[in-house]
Amino acid sequence: MHTDIERILFTESQIAQRVRELGEQISRDYERLLGDRIFHEPPIAVGLLRGAVIFLADLARAMRIPIELAFMAISSYGLSSSPGEVRVVKDLEISVAGRHILIVEDIVDTGQTLAHLQELLNARHPASVKVCALLNKTPRRARTVKLDYVGFTLTEDAFVVGYGLDYAERYRNLPYIAALKKSAITT
Ligand code: PRP
Repeated sequence: MHTDIERILFTESQIAQRVRELGEQISRDYERLLGDRIFHEPPIAVGLLRGAVIFLADLARAMRIPIELAFMAISSYGLSSSPGEVRVVKDLEISVAGRHILIVEDIVDTGQTLAHLQELLNARHPASVKVCALLNKTPRRARTVKLDYVGFTLTEDAFVVGYGLDYAERYRNLPYIAALKKSAITT
């Protein structure tokens, strides 16, 4: 275990198992929703850079339906002070009008990033917008957001890293999700 880690919350094999289940559930739901149309208009999985990349890479391979991959980056700077503002650092390169979108997030914490992203995407008239979040961390939730698919729910306010989640851009490549030691957090 990495020396900065206090304790592992979700192991590599727990994550792999849950990702397989989510991939199956999502595949089934879109098959039911779209039928044969799924081949002409596959859902678009929109991953938020950078945290969701590792989860999306695994989730995409756990799905047995055609999907397209797309990425956006949103700056969280100023989100808490001025929740009305969001800065799109990298936008989608495709039109999503009439398309089925699956937002893929590593973590939903306050919910502000997701709420902004949903508003932004809904304004582009997609056929549907669903959300898949690996971690639903509830103690600091400030915006009500509907999560269609959740990997794990975390009710404690731990600083979580690993499997895409960072602290100061580190620890994203840990294969597990863990609570960071307080001593590793420099403020
Ligand atoms: C993290 C995470 C979510 C967001 C969740 O992104 O990936 O996008 O925070 O927080 P919220 O629910 O409180 O809005 P971050 O801004 O740290 O960027 P990253 O994806 O590059 O790690």
